[in-house]
Amino acid sequence: MEQSFKLFLLLLIHILPLRSLCSPVPPNFPPNALPTKSGYLPINPTTGSAMFYAFYEATRPTTPLPTTPLLVWLQGGPGCSSMIGNLFELGPWRFSDGSFELNPGAWNHLFGLLFLDSPIGTGFSVAPQEEEIPNNQTKVARHLHIALTSFLLSNPPFISRPLYITGESYAGKYVPAAAFYILQENKAGQKTKLNLRGVAIGDGLTHPEVQVQVHADTAYFMGLMNRRQKAHLEELQRAAVRLVREQRWADATTMRNEVLDWLQNATGLATLYDLRRQRTYETEPVGEFLRQEKVAKALGVKEGVVWEECSGLVGGRLHEDVMKSVRWMLEAVVREIRVFLYTGEFDLRDGVSGTVAWLEGMEWEGLQGWMAAERDVWVVGKEVAGYIQTWSNLTQVVVRGAGHLVPADQAVNSQAMIQDWVLQTESFGGSGRKQRTKFKGSRGRKQRTKFKGSH
Ligand SMILES: *[C@@H]1O[C@H](CO)[C@@H](O)[C@H](O)[C@H]1NC(C)=O
Ligand SMILES: *[C@@H]1O[C@H](CO)[C@@H](O)[C@H](O)[C@H]1NC(C)=O
Ligand SMILES: *[C@@H]1O[C@H](CO)[C@@H](O)[C@H](O)[C@H]1NC(C)=O
Repeated sequence: MEQSFKLFLLLLIHILPLRSLCSPVPPNFPPNALPTKSGYLPINPTTGSAMFYAFYEATRPTTPLPTTPLLVWLQGGPGCSSMIGNLFELGPWRFSDGSFELNPGAWNHLFGLLFLDSPIGTGFSVAPQEEEIPNNQTKVARHLHIALTSFLLSNPPFISRPLYITGESYAGKYVPAAAFYILQENKAGQKTKLNLRGVAIGDGLTHPEVQVQVHADTAYFMGLMNRRQKAHLEELQRAAVRLVREQRWADATTMRNEVLDWLQNATGLATLYDLRRQRTYETEPVGEFLRQEKVAKALGVKEGVVWEECSGLVGGRLHEDVMKSVRWMLEAVVREIRVFLYTGEFDLRDGVSGTVAWLEGMEWEGLQGWMAAERDVWVVGKEVAGYIQTWSNLTQVVVRGAGHLVPADQAVNSQAMIQDWVLQTESFGGSGRKQRTKFKGSRGRKQRTKFKGSH
């Protein structure tokens, strides 16, 4: 019996193509993993451009729906699909190794969660004319405003829901731009006002001129290169900064790419997104799944639209945008709503040092308060989940054990983080907290003295 089984296995291995053994054909969308709603939000009915969305209602709301917060998620790139965020990071179901798994750290337990494929031309979104794809952040924001307004109005009780725009990486541009635009439109007396309450950015590119300057120091002090290599990388970084100051935007983007390529090559790392990884984040199965006709149909995708993880066309349209800053927009936004910046500690691309560097150069009355605020140890369960510094409308968090894709690396902690930030509970409690005495009894208190003066 055992012998014949072995023979059977042997036959199987030799007869079947290897591929079908390693990666079985992905299944169809399990009905219980389907979004609450998905489809298209029209951008320009004349040309037919439209933004794809996938919406998941809160599974455990603690308030009636009209007051239950709504999170919007925007992927980076430029030009990468939010379905990566959905099925690889923070959505209710994750797809890996050919099957679906419930995500214990899903962001839609307490909040509605809306994934948008933005800008148009990204993921399942459609842009019949290339010139319609945004080539700057004002245009990206205008489309997002159109899409969001349409989504909220087509679901009547939604318009009053507290709205939070979140996103990652290149969304460090989109998120401030969208918030800036929405606040402006609200003030311009639009009939439909969006109830925007806050923005959250994970490992974002927001102020590239400063962010491109930290790579040499960061890599050197982590022991990833020697002094001579550091000097060479600094030279490339300075060249990128010069090009930014001369407003040679395309060349500046190319030079930043050179900085990052050189860093990766010199260090031999598999990816700069997470210096621990021996391989890049493995998102390919998500693509294999989403490119099936049956799956696209179940999601309400328009005929003939084939999903791409990242669109080269959209990336090309925004090539000259990469090195342009949106910090000035965020400076206006933080004066009106809450801003949250979180970063995975192992990200070498848009990591902690770059975020802190541009943050400390902000023009904002609250900056001194934030700089003087205590950095707390952020604890989830009994473990140190990271570090938090909060003052007035600004909260900054370093997430331990995470690279660029924070929710992929720290599902449960990322859920605790977003929930506590939105609801202002636990370590994230109360905007405007400043004095240590106020925090008596907070979980990080015992360790706090250890970190005194470490900055
Ligand atoms: C984007 O382009 C439009 C039109 O060319 C312009 O009015 C707008 O100011 C630009 N926005 C930014 C942020 O450069
Ligand atoms: C990468 O490093 C190798 C040597 O380690 C070098 O030969 C090659 O030119 C480098 N490539 C780039 C793009 O810097
Ligand atoms: C924080 O936001 C509130 C509005 O929610 C605003 O009144 C206040 O001035 C802001 N604080 C700072 C320091 O920008």
